[in-house]
Amino acid sequence: MTVFTKEWTDWIDHNVNAGCDKDGVFKILLDEGYSFEQIKNQMNYSPTVNMSHALNPHRRSENLERAQDSPEILYLSNAVRLETDKAEFYVIDNFLNQKECDQMIKLIGDMKRPSLMVNHGDKENNFRTSSTCDLGQLDSPFIKEIDERICKMMGIDSSYSEPIQGQFYEIGQEFKAHTDYFEEDEIEECDGGKGQRTYTFFINLNDVEEGGTTHFPALELEHTPKRGTAVIWNNLRANGKGNYNSLHHGKPVLKGNKSVITKWFRSKGFGSMMIKTPHEKIPNFTSVGFEKTRLPDEILKAIKRFYQDNITDQKAEFVEGGYIQGKNKSCAPSSLLDLPPYLKKEIHDYLKPILEKWSGTALEPTFIYGIRTYHDGAVLKAHRDRKETHIISCIINVFQDVREDWALQIDDHFYRKHEVFMKEGEMVFYEGAKLMHGREVPFEGNSFANIFCHFTPVDYVPPRE
Ligand SMILES: [Fe+2]
Ligand SMILES: [Fe+2]
Repeated sequence: MTVFTKEWTDWIDHNVNAGCDKDGVFKILLDEGYSFEQIKNQMNYSPTVNMSHALNPHRRSENLERAQDSPEILYLSNAVRLETDKAEFYVIDNFLNQKECDQMIKLIGDMKRPSLMVNHGDKENNFRTSSTCDLGQLDSPFIKEIDERICKMMGIDSSYSEPIQGQFYEIGQEFKAHTDYFEEDEIEECDGGKGQRTYTFFINLNDVEEGGTTHFPALELEHTPKRGTAVIWNNLRANGKGNYNSLHHGKPVLKGNKSVITKWFRSKGFGSMMIKTPHEKIPNFTSVGFEKTRLPDEILKAIKRFYQDNITDQKAEFVEGGYIQGKNKSCAPSSLLDLPPYLKKEIHDYLKPILEKWSGTALEPTFIYGIRTYHDGAVLKAHRDRKETHIISCIINVFQDVREDWALQIDDHFYRKHEVFMKEGEMVFYEGAKLMHGREVPFEGNSFANIFCHFTPVDYVPPRE
């Protein structure tokens, strides 16, 4: 859909004037198939909540099918894809958080030099007037981590990419209209054996007071810099030739300054180019992927009472695939105590509506295991849960007797690593089949007892192998 009909513009005016929730109006228009940018322009309003989730049901399944049918197509979590046939173009908000942006800006500030042009160099002296720094040359764990996260998000092996570059634009500085791909006659001279440039992945590190937009004339798109937002496009057409529609102009900064990082992907590398597993092609249901919260005291009490009364019934557990390991092979690293049906039902019934609200989708319960108690020295290897059934999940910490707090390591939907600590009665909602998680530091203590409870969206179709 490209234009709003009079009926729809009247409908928007009517609802907004009547004081309806603008985010709600926005969501309905998304569901109708209008693009995020179209609605934003028409309403002159940006939503205050993350709408990528609202966008996802249709777009997700569409992209998922395409990604599965053709392993060469990207599947990007949290991305909003521009609705056009002219180029493959995506935006991901909040790919970097404020702290990460600030850290990156500092690194760029410390080592910037005037930008060099790969091409167009002698066409015009002030074609590109920003400063550039080769962040990839820094031996910085932080740069490495961001570089890896970009590769993981793209699902492209890092050997098919260039190191991250940083650019800094002061007032008046710009990068005139250009394309990122190498022209046919310069590939050999410029490619360094790594082939043509495929995708561009750039991230705005700050909001710019005025100016500094990136204009894509063929796509009729003017991207306003926003801290942490990643902009991604394919520089090539399906036939591998440069796509002139990717032409873009980094317009002059009028007030303030602009810092960005750019990473280019290339057509040649080692091994497989596309690296996402089917698990990573599961749609995401929340913007971050996990959240820590608390179980009501009365349910916790009921579980603890059952646990304490029946502790002698727990059985040594050897988890399939060796995901849980202990100090020595002869001693089980964990034990399992089955839950009685009434308690399973109570937990499922309590969690279902809460997890439905959290994930924005109707759920059906799949599995609830008993109470697993980890013993001293246990390690839970990093893994992703079953992609058929463990989609929206919850870990409840029931009881712990520890010498050291024991962290759950979990990635979010931006491949950022987190450590989550849980106290008794605390629980973590998480998208377990999609997100890598584990407890890789050996447990120090006597017992650490958790319940795992899993749900699957009602209309869920698992990605194919
Ligand atoms: Fe560019
Ligand atoms: Fe798991």
